Amino acid sequence: MAASPEEFRGQARLPRFASPLRYDLRLRPDLASCAFSGAAAVAVAVSAPTRFLVLNAAELAVDRDSIRFQDLAPSEVVQFEEDEILVVGFDRELPVGEGVLTMDFTGTLNDQMRGFYRSKYVYNGESRNMAVTQFEAADARRCFPCWDEPAFKAKFKLTLEVPSELVALSNMPVVSETANGPIKTIYYEESPLMSTYLVAIVVGLFDYIESSTLEGTKVRVYTQVGKINQGKFALDVAVKSLDLYKDYFATPYPLPKLDMIAIPDFAAGAMENYGLVTYRETALLYDELLSSASNKQQVAITVAHELAHQWFGNLVTMEWWTHLWLNEGFASWVSYLAVESLFPEWNNWTQFLDETTSGLRLDALAESHPIEVEINHASEIDAIFDSISYDKGASVIRMLQSYLGAERFQKALASYIKKYAYSNAKTEDLWTVLEEESGEPVKDLMTTWTKQQGYPVIYAKLNEHDLELEQAQFLSDGSSGPGMWIVPITSCCDSYDVQKKFLLKDKTDKMQIKEFIASQSANGENNQNIWIKLNIDQTGFYRVKYDDELAAGLVIAIKAKKLSLMDKIGIVEDSYALSIACKQTLTSLLRLLNAYHDESDYTVLSHVTSVCLGISKISVDATPDLNKDIKQLLINLLLPAAKKLGWDPKDSESHLDIMLRSLLLIALVRLGHHETINEGVRRFHIFLEDRKTSLLPPDNRKAAYLAVMRTVSTSSRSSYDALLKIYRETAEAQEKSRVLGSLSSSPDKDIVFEALNFMFTDEVRNQDSFYILGGISLEGREVAWIWLKQNWDYVLKTWPSSSLISDFINYIISPFTSEEKATEVSEFFANRIKPSFQRALKQSLERVRISARWIDSIRSEPDLCQTVHELLQQEV
Ligand code: BES
Ligand code: ZN
Repeated sequence: MAASPEEFRGQARLPRFASPLRYDLRLRPDLASCAFSGAAAVAVAVSAPTRFLVLNAAELAVDRDSIRFQDLAPSEVVQFEEDEILVVGFDRELPVGEGVLTMDFTGTLNDQMRGFYRSKYVYNGESRNMAVTQFEAADARRCFPCWDEPAFKAKFKLTLEVPSELVALSNMPVVSETANGPIKTIYYEESPLMSTYLVAIVVGLFDYIESSTLEGTKVRVYTQVGKINQGKFALDVAVKSLDLYKDYFATPYPLPKLDMIAIPDFAAGAMENYGLVTYRETALLYDELLSSASNKQQVAITVAHELAHQWFGNLVTMEWWTHLWLNEGFASWVSYLAVESLFPEWNNWTQFLDETTSGLRLDALAESHPIEVEINHASEIDAIFDSISYDKGASVIRMLQSYLGAERFQKALASYIKKYAYSNAKTEDLWTVLEEESGEPVKDLMTTWTKQQGYPVIYAKLNEHDLELEQAQFLSDGSSGPGMWIVPITSCCDSYDVQKKFLLKDKTDKMQIKEFIASQSANGENNQNIWIKLNIDQTGFYRVKYDDELAAGLVIAIKAKKLSLMDKIGIVEDSYALSIACKQTLTSLLRLLNAYHDESDYTVLSHVTSVCLGISKISVDATPDLNKDIKQLLINLLLPAAKKLGWDPKDSESHLDIMLRSLLLIALVRLGHHETINEGVRRFHIFLEDRKTSLLPPDNRKAAYLAVMRTVSTSSRSSYDALLKIYRETAEAQEKSRVLGSLSSSPDKDIVFEALNFMFTDEVRNQDSFYILGGISLEGREVAWIWLKQNWDYVLKTWPSSSLISDFINYIISPFTSEEKATEVSEFFANRIKPSFQRALKQSLERVRISARWIDSIRSEPDLCQTVHELLQQEV
């Protein structure tokens, strides 16, 4: 038994001898002075004799004299700010059993978009404050003292005292309200068992619309006054998703109501608080006339994601943050399932490969981490909300589902949800249920993917009638790590009719393909044109490197339009990654790209353009003399599809073609295609005169804004000012984001500098800085780095949350491509490092070094120049 409060310091988790059962919480936010006061009464179960109660509190002033456990006043109260804990000591042992801990406290409604914070909006032309909570991952402790870990589930009963004219929402429905002059007191129903990070409160002025599910659950969307029409689309998606998940998880929606609300200042995209989901405006609001097709998709995916959490995350919660991916990987994967069923014409599962691609790209870094990652301090949690937990997590789930079969998988998930409802689970618990349900060795298979960082590249070689396979860990720096996986291999030969599957468990293995080839020869096919594709539809989280013969067969197959969209994406993505790792030449990548010349599908071209832009960027530094020709080659590749679509939308064209037009126009502008830039500028000027012109619909605006910015310089800056005018005039967050994403893309350093400084004015919300960072032109990277160094202390203070500060690091450092720069950056940060951005910094530096190595290798390619010219001639 502990003798002194000091013994509780420096621990990753709270001691387990006492746990909360029920919180009775009363909070009174003062929106004018940005402060709040509160009173908590927590029913606590003491399970082992102790003289101390240890719970979390941060940035709270706890009134020591108010603390009681039953009738007992504490003999000592210590708050350790660094550990974010409050230790309450008594002069005698607390008996095992239940007791109530009470205390009063006060805090500040901060401006950091975490804990209990202040967001601003304009009402009737006046600036107003609203009070909002964001508790995930570990910030409930900034609002009330609590056992702030996901496994300490308890019931919550809230009471709010707020100005009478405001709307006040929380997780549960209102039981009763009493008015007391300018202040009203609102009592909410008690919640079921839930984790602290899901508690939520929003207080402000809002409008709402309402609908209900087939089961009768009331669903509402709240927006700022005047924007409620923009909530209709999300409401519709929400109601349908709830109905769908109820069937899929075979469990009804667990709460009596669901509210969704748009918050003007919001650090993440959205947050799944139980029964009160909060969103950025861009992720919830959709306007037929003002939003783009890609905005629409983002809203649908985000709503479907957060509502999936109501089961996966809220009803069944990860036991500790090490298992965060159970929340995020699953919600991401399931959101695609829901959106595929609501909007089949979006080809959503093919678009899912965007997630797989981001996962594969990040996990090819030595500075990646395993899906299940050890967490030793609260400050480390936020940094793992990354592409590994989300995208790799979702991708290995898709891999497993495709291995087990959709039906078996769904049945097992439903039993898992039932078994762990209102409780917590670890990764292993899920494998156990899946194993029982399927009889397959799920645990062995999946452990290699979740406990080990990275993934394999499979080398495939044709040897007479055998396909020889060898696995090695893939790393973008060209080295090969020690990892070994159990890899679900799938393959097909010359058609999708005959497919083979097996588990590759060793370093090498062979697959007999005699009968494959025999069946095709019987069809009269010539052996030479036979193609073999591994990892059918990219369901596996790995890459494939084919030998020359197999690779040549695939190029022919792409040209002959024999391959699925997903396989075409996989081939170009793998080839790009292998080229970066110098396992394949840029020359051969350019030849492969040439096979995509006739492609007209959005999903495929979105990967092709991303590869093109990557090549164009590296060639600026690698082969400056050839850069213009390489850009022309890439322009020639994208131009046929772009010409077919033109700038003007056609009646009844598909959602994906609308997205494709915007994608191609943006890519052509970035590649410096003069005609597209000129046309963008022309349409921009028409738009300036007439904001309602049909010549520049929302889908095409980003392309026009970027085009205009390519022509802006200090001596000719009127279009920059015109863009600012558009920014200032619009009330739409999505339109604002399009402008912000363009401002820093000028080739003129001084303009880039000015755009970066614009971020520091109160015209740009802190949540939106990453748009400006994401748009920085290649020409502006040096000035951006100087700017970051000059302003580092201010930046760190103003954007303390991990995801926001990491954006500054990633966007500004990753574009560099030399060893010298990597050294310079490391030196600058040597004594400035913090856990919140440490991983981002290491990853960015690794990317810089990978580019440097790639450049060396490109410079030594003997045929590059000749190939570029040969391909240029072919295409014209
Ligand atoms: N639980 C997260 C929100 C979150 C992120 C909280 C990081 C704390 C730290 C939420 O469910 C989420 O994943 N939101 C995504 C949107 C989604 C469509 C991937 C986001 O915010 O980007
Ligand atoms: Zn999520």
